[in-house]
Amino acid sequence: MDKQRNATLNVDGKSIDLPIYSGSIGPDVIDIRSLYAKTGMFTFDPGFVSTAACKSDITYIDGDEGVLLYRGYPIEQLAMKCDFLEVAYLILHGELPNAKQKGEFDSIIKNHTMVHDQLTRFYSGFRRDAHPMAILVGVVGALSAFYHEAMDISDEYHRTVSAHRLIAKLPNITAMAYKYNAGQPFMYPRNDLSYTANFMHMMFGTPCEKYEPNPVLVRALDRILILHADHEQNASTSTVRLAGSSGANPFACISSGIACLWGPAHGGANEACLNMLEEIGDVSRVGEFIKRAKDKDDPFKLMGFGHRVYKNFDPRAKLMRETCHEVLNELGLQDDRLFKLAIALEKIALEDDYFISKKLYPNVDFYSGIVQRALGIPVKLFTGIFAMARTVGWIAQWNEMIGDPEQKIGRPRQLFTGATQRDVIAMDKR
Ligand code: SDX
Repeated sequence: MDKQRNATLNVDGKSIDLPIYSGSIGPDVIDIRSLYAKTGMFTFDPGFVSTAACKSDITYIDGDEGVLLYRGYPIEQLAMKCDFLEVAYLILHGELPNAKQKGEFDSIIKNHTMVHDQLTRFYSGFRRDAHPMAILVGVVGALSAFYHEAMDISDEYHRTVSAHRLIAKLPNITAMAYKYNAGQPFMYPRNDLSYTANFMHMMFGTPCEKYEPNPVLVRALDRILILHADHEQNASTSTVRLAGSSGANPFACISSGIACLWGPAHGGANEACLNMLEEIGDVSRVGEFIKRAKDKDDPFKLMGFGHRVYKNFDPRAKLMRETCHEVLNELGLQDDRLFKLAIALEKIALEDDYFISKKLYPNVDFYSGIVQRALGIPVKLFTGIFAMARTVGWIAQWNEMIGDPEQKIGRPRQLFTGATQRDVIAMDKR
């Protein structure tokens, strides 16, 4: 048995030992749970730059080496050798499925794709121009109103069926948001199609004619979903875990994750990046925007660049760029204006000392907007696609937390800098 390693902290002349733990790979951690009891002090880590909030077996990121593993498998291999539901099974269960397990999982998900007919009426309460993410936050949260019989989160079967319902219904709910925006009728799912082909059918099919999705485009979108499926303890996953730590139902927790993902610093960056490229418009203006991104007094940031963890290339960005090439070639859009602009912007930024010194590289959102636009997905729906894919990671992380015997309600403290106690005086004396 290895001797317990400790970190020794000296506070006002008093020494305390804090245990150090090692994972299977990655940085060790210092267990500070006894810190307040032993010192009367809290740690201070706004934005959780140096804080591990939990243990997890699901996803590992090495930001310096540009490594992303789902349950130990490199994202590069999963993106090229698996389909999205295969990866979803892996993230949920910890192992890649064999043919029998994959067939059963595909069948289970296909048999949960329809939504309750009453749910379709939620959409008519929105304006036609409602942002799809506003619709997703509302409708996904409302799903909990339809499954009262399976909401005991201490019951493993209830957790499993909720996971299947969420994974199966998000494509339908997302496509319905698109149809509602477009003023077109909702399309029922087709269970003879694969998960991603079915999504494209519900998005681009109409009751007027048979729609057969292009297999090259289906494969590209399926790969995009794989790249977005999970990503360790990012902001939206941490939101889902914190919501879940109170015992909230899984639909409410996923809805909270969707709300957090919407932010332009997080999943909303793909929409913001495409809008930024449209605003730049031409390679001749790239320098002007690079200058703005470097200006401390200008809040403008280069959307799709930078990452809290990746201080090297985001491996997903490379795969997304390759997927971009494939889709644009398939569609005869090799000279796509925005793609060429993005390539030029990336080259100029990567040669600029500011970006080099701050280790700012393209992240997953830099190319995803361009390829989604080429697939015919409207800009406002880019983050909805991200949410649809990340639902697998969110529900797996939520399930892992609920199943952790050590899990407690999340309740951080603060460094209080406000007014000390004082007495209320009568208004006429203020
Ligand atoms: C996602 O966490 C995840 O895993 C998220 C995600 C996932 O899969 O879940 O990977 C998905 O959210 C990807 C990130 C998408 N967001 C964007 O592309 C928005 C633009 N990027 C930035 O807002 C920023 O890079 C963040 C939010 C992504 C990261 O911010 P951090 O880690 O808090 O870093 P920081 O803001 O402290 O930046 C460090 C420095 C700062 O300058 P200084 O204060 O040191 O002088 O770099 C600068 C920043 O101003 N900087 C940028 C920049 N990103 C950081 N400057 C210009 N353009 C940028 N994009």
